[in-house]
Amino acid sequence: VNSPPSGPDPFDYVGDDLLSLADQVREVVDTDHPVLKMAASHFFSLKSGKKFRPTIVMLISRAAAAAANSGADVGDSVSYKDVDDMPSADVYDKQRRLGQITEMIHTASLIHDDVLDDAETRRGGDSVHKLYSNKVAVLAGDFLLARASVLLAQLGNVEVVETMANALDSLVTGEVMQAKAEPDDLTTFDWYMKKTYMKTASLIACSTRSAALLGGFASTSEETVAAEKYGYHLGLAFQIVDDLLDFTQSADLLGKPACSDLNNGQATAPILFAAEEYPELNAMIRRKFKQPGDVDRARKLLERSKGLERTKSLARWHAQQAVEWLSVLPDSPARRALVKLGNRVIVRTS
Ligand code: FPP
Ligand code: MG
Ligand code: MG
Repeated sequence: VNSPPSGPDPFDYVGDDLLSLADQVREVVDTDHPVLKMAASHFFSLKSGKKFRPTIVMLISRAAAAAANSGADVGDSVSYKDVDDMPSADVYDKQRRLGQITEMIHTASLIHDDVLDDAETRRGGDSVHKLYSNKVAVLAGDFLLARASVLLAQLGNVEVVETMANALDSLVTGEVMQAKAEPDDLTTFDWYMKKTYMKTASLIACSTRSAALLGGFASTSEETVAAEKYGYHLGLAFQIVDDLLDFTQSADLLGKPACSDLNNGQATAPILFAAEEYPELNAMIRRKFKQPGDVDRARKLLERSKGLERTKSLARWHAQQAVEWLSVLPDSPARRALVKLGNRVIVRTS
Protein backbone atom coordinates (compact mmCIF):
# COMPACT_ATOMS: atom_id res chain seq x y z
CA VAL A 1 0.00 0.00 0.00
CA ASN A 2 2.92 2.36 0.69
CA SER A 3 4.15 2.64 -2.87
CA PRO A 4 1.45 1.63 -5.33
CA PRO A 5 2.70 0.20 -8.65
CA SER A 6 2.37 2.07 -11.90
CA GLY A 7 -1.00 1.69 -13.52
CA PRO A 8 -4.06 3.73 -14.46
CA ASP A 9 -5.77 6.16 -12.10
CA PRO A 10 -8.77 4.27 -10.62
CA PHE A 11 -11.31 7.03 -11.19
CA ASP A 12 -10.06 7.82 -14.72
CA TYR A 13 -9.87 4.20 -15.84
CA VAL A 14 -13.64 3.61 -15.56
CA GLY A 15 -14.68 7.28 -15.48
CA ASP A 16 -16.23 7.21 -18.94
CA ASP A 17 -18.39 4.23 -18.00
CA LEU A 18 -19.93 6.25 -15.19
CA LEU A 19 -20.44 9.55 -17.03
CA SER A 20 -24.13 9.02 -17.59
CA LEU A 21 -24.85 7.56 -14.13
CA ALA A 22 -26.45 10.75 -12.78
CA ASP A 23 -28.67 11.10 -15.86
CA GLN A 24 -29.71 7.47 -15.65
CA VAL A 25 -30.69 7.84 -12.01
CA ARG A 26 -32.69 10.99 -12.78
CA GLU A 27 -34.48 8.95 -15.46
CA VAL A 28 -35.36 6.05 -13.18
CA VAL A 29 -36.61 8.27 -10.35
CA ASP A 30 -39.01 10.02 -12.67
CA THR A 31 -42.43 10.43 -11.08
CA ASP A 32 -45.25 12.92 -11.43
CA HIS A 33 -44.60 14.14 -7.89
CA PRO A 34 -42.14 17.01 -8.51
CA VAL A 35 -40.89 17.37 -4.92
CA LEU A 36 -40.23 13.65 -4.56
CA LYS A 37 -38.39 13.58 -7.86
CA MET A 38 -36.21 16.54 -6.86
CA ALA A 39 -35.48 15.16 -3.41
CA ALA A 40 -34.60 11.68 -4.68
CA SER A 41 -32.30 12.97 -7.40
CA HIS A 42 -30.84 15.79 -5.30
CA PHE A 43 -27.41 14.26 -4.68
CA PHE A 44 -27.17 12.98 -8.25
CA SER A 45 -27.50 16.54 -9.54
CA LEU A 46 -24.42 17.67 -7.61
CA LYS A 47 -20.97 17.48 -9.15
CA SER A 48 -19.34 16.70 -5.80
CA GLY A 49 -20.09 12.95 -5.53
CA LYS A 50 -16.96 10.78 -5.75
CA LYS A 51 -18.84 7.78 -7.17
CA PHE A 52 -16.53 5.73 -5.03
CA ARG A 53 -18.78 2.63 -4.90
CA PRO A 54 -19.64 2.44 -8.63
CA THR A 55 -15.94 2.93 -9.39
CA ILE A 56 -15.03 -0.10 -7.26
CA VAL A 57 -17.78 -2.16 -8.90
CA MET A 58 -16.51 -1.35 -12.41
CA LEU A 59 -12.88 -1.98 -11.53
CA ILE A 60 -13.61 -5.32 -9.85
CA SER A 61 -15.75 -6.29 -12.84
CA ARG A 62 -12.80 -5.66 -15.12
CA ALA A 63 -10.16 -7.22 -12.91
CA ALA A 64 -12.31 -10.36 -12.76
CA ALA A 65 -12.85 -10.30 -16.53
CA ALA A 66 -9.08 -10.38 -16.95
CA ALA A 67 -9.13 -13.77 -15.26
CA ALA A 68 -11.86 -15.03 -17.56
CA ASN A 69 -10.35 -13.57 -20.77
CA SER A 70 -6.66 -14.15 -20.54
CA GLY A 71 -6.47 -17.78 -19.71
CA ALA A 72 -3.15 -16.47 -18.39
CA ASP A 73 -2.21 -17.79 -14.99
CA VAL A 74 -1.43 -15.57 -12.06
CA GLY A 75 2.28 -14.80 -12.21
CA ASP A 76 2.62 -15.32 -15.99
CA SER A 77 5.18 -12.92 -17.41
CA VAL A 78 2.74 -11.06 -19.69
CA SER A 79 2.85 -7.27 -19.37
CA TYR A 80 -0.23 -6.14 -17.44
CA LYS A 81 -0.95 -3.69 -20.25
CA ASP A 82 -1.49 -6.55 -22.69
CA VAL A 83 -4.11 -8.24 -20.54
CA ASP A 84 -7.66 -7.79 -21.83
CA ASP A 85 -9.79 -6.81 -18.84
CA MET A 86 -13.00 -5.97 -20.70
CA PRO A 87 -16.08 -8.15 -20.02
CA SER A 88 -18.48 -8.81 -22.89
CA ALA A 89 -20.73 -5.82 -23.67
CA ASP A 90 -23.91 -7.33 -22.21
CA VAL A 91 -22.18 -8.41 -19.00
CA TYR A 92 -20.49 -5.01 -18.58
CA ASP A 93 -23.85 -3.31 -19.10
CA LYS A 94 -25.31 -5.25 -16.19
CA GLN A 95 -22.29 -4.52 -14.04
CA ARG A 96 -22.69 -0.83 -14.80
CA ARG A 97 -26.33 -1.11 -13.69
CA LEU A 98 -25.12 -2.77 -10.52
CA GLY A 99 -22.84 0.20 -9.86
CA GLN A 100 -25.81 2.51 -10.32
CA ILE A 101 -27.99 0.43 -8.00
CA THR A 102 -25.26 0.45 -5.36
CA GLU A 103 -24.98 4.24 -5.50
CA MET A 104 -28.78 4.57 -5.27
CA ILE A 105 -28.89 2.34 -2.18
CA HIS A 106 -25.99 4.26 -0.62
CA THR A 107 -27.66 7.61 -1.32
CA ALA A 108 -30.99 6.41 0.08
CA SER A 109 -29.23 5.35 3.26
CA LEU A 110 -27.51 8.76 3.58
CA ILE A 111 -30.78 10.64 3.14
CA HIS A 112 -32.25 8.58 5.98
CA ASP A 113 -29.06 8.76 8.03
CA ASP A 114 -29.13 12.56 8.02
CA VAL A 115 -32.65 12.45 9.45
CA LEU A 116 -31.56 10.04 12.20
CA ASP A 117 -28.39 12.04 12.97
CA ASP A 118 -30.01 15.48 12.69
CA ALA A 119 -27.25 16.40 10.25
CA GLU A 120 -27.94 19.59 8.34
CA THR A 121 -25.19 19.33 5.73
CA ARG A 122 -24.06 16.67 3.26
CA ARG A 123 -21.67 16.85 0.31
CA GLY A 124 -21.04 20.52 0.84
CA GLY A 125 -24.70 21.59 0.82
CA ASP A 126 -27.93 21.19 2.75
CA SER A 127 -29.07 17.66 3.55
CA VAL A 128 -32.35 16.53 1.96
CA HIS A 129 -34.43 16.84 5.15
CA LYS A 130 -33.06 20.36 5.69
CA LEU A 131 -33.94 21.37 2.13
CA TYR A 132 -37.40 19.80 2.22
CA SER A 133 -38.66 18.14 5.40
CA ASN A 134 -38.28 14.90 7.35
CA LYS A 135 -41.36 13.47 5.65
CA VAL A 136 -40.01 14.16 2.18
CA ALA A 137 -36.60 12.75 3.14
CA VAL A 138 -38.11 9.50 4.43
CA LEU A 139 -40.18 9.12 1.28
CA ALA A 140 -37.34 10.10 -1.06
CA GLY A 141 -35.05 7.46 0.51
CA ASP A 142 -37.79 4.83 0.29
CA PHE A 143 -38.51 5.79 -3.29
CA LEU A 144 -34.84 5.54 -4.35
CA LEU A 145 -34.66 2.16 -2.68
CA ALA A 146 -37.84 0.99 -4.40
CA ARG A 147 -36.60 1.98 -7.83
CA ALA A 148 -33.20 0.42 -7.10
CA SER A 149 -35.00 -2.84 -6.22
CA VAL A 150 -36.78 -2.87 -9.57
CA LEU A 151 -33.47 -2.40 -11.39
CA LEU A 152 -31.92 -5.13 -9.27
CA ALA A 153 -34.65 -7.61 -10.19
CA GLN A 154 -34.20 -6.68 -13.85
CA LEU A 155 -30.62 -7.95 -13.72
CA GLY A 156 -32.25 -11.38 -13.71
CA ASN A 157 -29.84 -13.04 -11.30
CA VAL A 158 -31.36 -14.43 -8.11
CA GLU A 159 -28.01 -14.78 -6.33
CA VAL A 160 -27.26 -11.12 -6.99
CA VAL A 161 -30.69 -10.11 -5.69
CA GLU A 162 -30.09 -12.14 -2.53
CA THR A 163 -26.59 -10.71 -2.05
CA MET A 164 -27.75 -7.11 -2.40
CA ALA A 165 -30.82 -7.73 -0.23
CA ASN A 166 -28.41 -8.93 2.46
CA ALA A 167 -26.54 -5.63 2.13
CA LEU A 168 -29.79 -3.76 2.83
CA ASP A 169 -30.40 -5.97 5.85
CA SER A 170 -26.91 -5.11 7.15
CA LEU A 171 -27.36 -1.37 6.65
CA VAL A 172 -30.52 -1.35 8.70
CA THR A 173 -29.06 -3.73 11.31
CA GLY A 174 -26.06 -1.41 11.69
CA GLU A 175 -28.33 1.55 12.36
CA VAL A 176 -30.40 -0.45 14.84
CA MET A 177 -27.23 -1.59 16.64
CA GLN A 178 -26.21 2.04 16.95
CA ALA A 179 -29.62 3.18 18.14
CA LYS A 180 -30.03 0.42 20.73
CA ALA A 181 -26.45 0.17 21.95
CA GLU A 182 -25.95 -0.78 25.61
CA PRO A 183 -23.15 0.95 27.57
CA ASP A 184 -21.08 -2.27 27.45
CA ASP A 185 -21.38 -2.42 23.66
CA LEU A 186 -20.11 1.13 23.30
CA THR A 187 -16.76 0.41 24.95
CA THR A 188 -16.16 -2.83 23.01
CA PHE A 189 -13.89 -2.79 19.96
CA ASP A 190 -15.48 -5.91 18.44
CA TRP A 191 -18.89 -4.31 18.63
CA TYR A 192 -17.51 -1.19 16.89
CA MET A 193 -15.99 -3.33 14.10
CA LYS A 194 -19.20 -5.27 13.61
CA LYS A 195 -21.20 -2.05 13.38
CA THR A 196 -18.60 -0.69 10.94
CA TYR A 197 -19.02 -3.75 8.76
CA MET A 198 -22.81 -3.45 8.87
CA LYS A 199 -23.07 0.23 8.09
CA THR A 200 -20.33 0.56 5.46
CA ALA A 201 -18.33 -2.50 4.42
CA SER A 202 -21.33 -4.76 3.80
CA LEU A 203 -22.68 -2.73 0.88
CA ILE A 204 -19.25 -2.56 -0.75
CA ALA A 205 -18.49 -6.26 -0.19
CA CYS A 206 -21.92 -7.34 -1.44
CA SER A 207 -21.58 -5.19 -4.55
CA THR A 208 -18.09 -6.47 -5.44
CA ARG A 209 -19.31 -10.03 -4.89
CA SER A 210 -22.32 -9.32 -7.12
CA ALA A 211 -20.04 -7.89 -9.82
CA ALA A 212 -18.15 -11.20 -9.93
CA LEU A 213 -21.41 -13.19 -10.01
CA LEU A 214 -22.63 -11.10 -12.96
CA GLY A 215 -19.27 -11.79 -14.59
CA GLY A 216 -20.23 -15.45 -14.65
CA PHE A 217 -18.13 -16.63 -11.70
CA ALA A 218 -19.67 -19.22 -9.38
CA SER A 219 -20.53 -18.12 -5.86
CA THR A 220 -17.76 -20.23 -4.31
CA SER A 221 -15.13 -19.56 -6.99
CA GLU A 222 -11.88 -18.00 -5.82
CA GLU A 223 -12.52 -14.97 -8.05
CA THR A 224 -15.88 -14.29 -6.38
CA VAL A 225 -14.41 -14.78 -2.91
CA ALA A 226 -11.50 -12.46 -3.76
CA ALA A 227 -13.89 -9.80 -5.09
CA GLU A 228 -15.96 -9.95 -1.91
CA LYS A 229 -12.92 -9.90 0.39
CA TYR A 230 -11.48 -6.91 -1.45
CA GLY A 231 -14.74 -5.03 -0.91
CA TYR A 232 -14.93 -6.15 2.72
CA HIS A 233 -11.45 -4.95 3.68
CA LEU A 234 -11.55 -1.82 1.55
CA GLY A 235 -14.93 -0.92 3.04
CA LEU A 236 -13.61 -1.32 6.58
CA ALA A 237 -10.52 0.76 5.74
CA PHE A 238 -12.74 3.41 4.21
CA GLN A 239 -14.99 3.75 7.27
CA ILE A 240 -12.10 3.65 9.75
CA VAL A 241 -10.49 6.54 7.85
CA ASP A 242 -13.87 8.32 7.88
CA ASP A 243 -13.93 7.98 11.66
CA LEU A 244 -10.41 9.42 11.81
CA LEU A 245 -11.25 12.37 9.54
CA ASP A 246 -14.24 13.17 11.76
CA PHE A 247 -11.67 14.23 14.38
CA THR A 248 -9.01 15.79 12.21
CA GLN A 249 -10.80 17.67 9.43
CA SER A 250 -13.03 20.73 9.29
CA ALA A 251 -16.70 20.60 8.34
CA ASP A 252 -15.79 22.70 5.29
CA LEU A 253 -13.41 20.08 4.00
CA LEU A 254 -15.70 17.17 4.79
CA GLY A 255 -18.82 18.80 3.35
CA LYS A 256 -20.71 17.46 6.38
CA PRO A 257 -20.57 18.12 10.14
CA ALA A 258 -17.16 17.51 11.77
CA CYS A 259 -16.64 16.04 15.23
CA SER A 260 -20.08 14.56 14.74
CA ASP A 261 -19.36 11.18 16.31
CA LEU A 262 -18.64 12.45 19.81
CA ASN A 263 -21.48 14.93 19.57
CA ASN A 264 -23.77 12.05 18.56
CA GLY A 265 -22.53 9.93 21.46
CA GLN A 266 -20.51 7.52 19.30
CA ALA A 267 -17.10 6.23 20.32
CA THR A 268 -15.16 5.20 17.21
CA ALA A 269 -11.70 3.65 16.77
CA PRO A 270 -9.63 6.70 17.81
CA ILE A 271 -11.43 7.03 21.15
CA LEU A 272 -11.55 3.28 21.78
CA PHE A 273 -7.78 3.08 21.29
CA ALA A 274 -7.27 6.15 23.48
CA ALA A 275 -9.37 4.52 26.22
CA GLU A 276 -6.76 1.75 26.48
CA GLU A 277 -4.26 4.42 27.59
CA TYR A 278 -6.73 6.59 29.50
CA PRO A 279 -9.37 4.29 31.06
CA GLU A 280 -11.24 7.32 32.43
CA LEU A 281 -12.61 7.64 28.89
CA ASN A 282 -14.70 4.50 29.42
CA ALA A 283 -17.13 6.26 31.74
CA MET A 284 -17.60 9.04 29.18
CA ILE A 285 -18.12 6.51 26.39
CA ARG A 286 -20.75 4.71 28.47
CA ARG A 287 -22.70 7.91 29.11
CA LYS A 288 -22.33 8.92 25.43
CA PHE A 289 -20.33 12.06 26.28
CA LYS A 290 -23.49 13.63 27.70
CA GLN A 291 -22.00 15.30 30.78
CA PRO A 292 -20.93 18.92 30.22
CA GLY A 293 -17.26 19.03 29.23
CA ASP A 294 -17.11 15.35 28.14
CA VAL A 295 -16.57 16.09 24.46
CA ASP A 296 -13.69 18.53 25.12
CA ARG A 297 -12.09 16.28 27.71
CA ALA A 298 -12.29 13.27 25.37
CA ARG A 299 -10.68 15.25 22.56
CA LYS A 300 -7.84 16.36 24.85
CA LEU A 301 -7.16 12.81 26.01
CA LEU A 302 -7.26 11.60 22.42
CA GLU A 303 -4.64 14.19 21.43
CA ARG A 304 -2.33 12.94 24.15
CA SER A 305 -2.85 9.30 23.20
CA LYS A 306 -1.77 7.14 20.29
CA GLY A 307 -5.42 6.81 19.24
CA LEU A 308 -5.18 8.57 15.89
CA GLU A 309 -1.95 6.81 14.93
CA ARG A 310 -3.29 3.39 15.84
CA THR A 311 -6.48 4.08 13.92
CA LYS A 312 -4.49 4.93 10.82
CA SER A 313 -2.48 1.70 11.19
CA LEU A 314 -5.66 -0.33 11.48
CA ALA A 315 -7.04 1.26 8.31
CA ARG A 316 -3.74 0.64 6.56
CA TRP A 317 -3.83 -3.01 7.60
CA HIS A 318 -7.29 -3.50 6.11
CA ALA A 319 -6.29 -1.73 2.88
CA GLN A 320 -3.28 -4.05 2.70
CA GLN A 321 -5.51 -7.10 3.19
CA ALA A 322 -7.79 -5.87 0.40
CA VAL A 323 -4.82 -5.56 -1.95
CA GLU A 324 -3.52 -9.01 -1.00
CA TRP A 325 -6.79 -10.64 -2.00
CA LEU A 326 -6.25 -9.25 -5.51
CA SER A 327 -3.33 -11.62 -5.99
CA VAL A 328 -5.91 -14.29 -6.85
CA LEU A 329 -6.58 -12.34 -10.08
CA PRO A 330 -4.06 -11.89 -12.93
CA ASP A 331 -2.15 -8.62 -13.17
CA SER A 332 -4.15 -6.22 -15.36
CA PRO A 333 -4.74 -2.48 -15.67
CA ALA A 334 -7.90 -2.81 -13.57
CA ARG A 335 -6.10 -4.76 -10.85
CA ARG A 336 -3.40 -2.09 -10.68
CA ALA A 337 -6.08 0.60 -10.44
CA LEU A 338 -7.64 -1.33 -7.53
CA VAL A 339 -4.25 -1.42 -5.77
CA LYS A 340 -3.99 2.34 -6.20
CA LEU A 341 -7.50 2.72 -4.82
CA GLY A 342 -6.39 0.86 -1.69
CA ASN A 343 -3.73 3.51 -1.22
CA ARG A 344 -6.09 6.36 -2.06
CA VAL A 345 -8.50 5.32 0.68
CA ILE A 346 -5.74 5.68 3.26
CA VAL A 347 -4.31 9.02 2.13
CA ARG A 348 -7.58 10.76 1.43
CA THR A 349 -8.26 13.95 3.38
CA SER A 350 -11.97 14.42 2.74
C1 FPP B 1 -23.56 6.91 7.59
O1 FPP B 1 -22.92 6.75 8.81
C2 FPP B 1 -24.70 5.90 7.51
C3 FPP B 1 -24.69 4.78 6.78
C4 FPP B 1 -23.53 4.43 5.95
C5 FPP B 1 -25.86 3.81 6.76
C6 FPP B 1 -27.21 4.39 7.06
C7 FPP B 1 -28.30 3.35 7.01
C8 FPP B 1 -29.59 3.58 7.31
C9 FPP B 1 -30.07 4.93 7.71
C10 FPP B 1 -30.54 2.44 7.25
C11 FPP B 1 -31.58 2.65 6.15
C12 FPP B 1 -31.08 2.05 4.90
C13 FPP B 1 -31.61 2.25 3.65
C14 FPP B 1 -31.09 1.43 2.55
C15 FPP B 1 -32.65 3.27 3.31
P1 FPP B 1 -22.53 8.00 9.71
O2 FPP B 1 -23.73 8.66 10.23
O3 FPP B 1 -21.53 7.53 10.71
O4 FPP B 1 -21.71 8.87 8.67
P2 FPP B 1 -21.85 10.35 8.16
O5 FPP B 1 -20.79 11.11 8.89
O6 FPP B 1 -21.55 10.28 6.68
O7 FPP B 1 -23.22 10.84 8.43
MG1 MG C 1 -24.56 10.51 9.85
MG1 MG D 1 -25.34 7.78 11.29
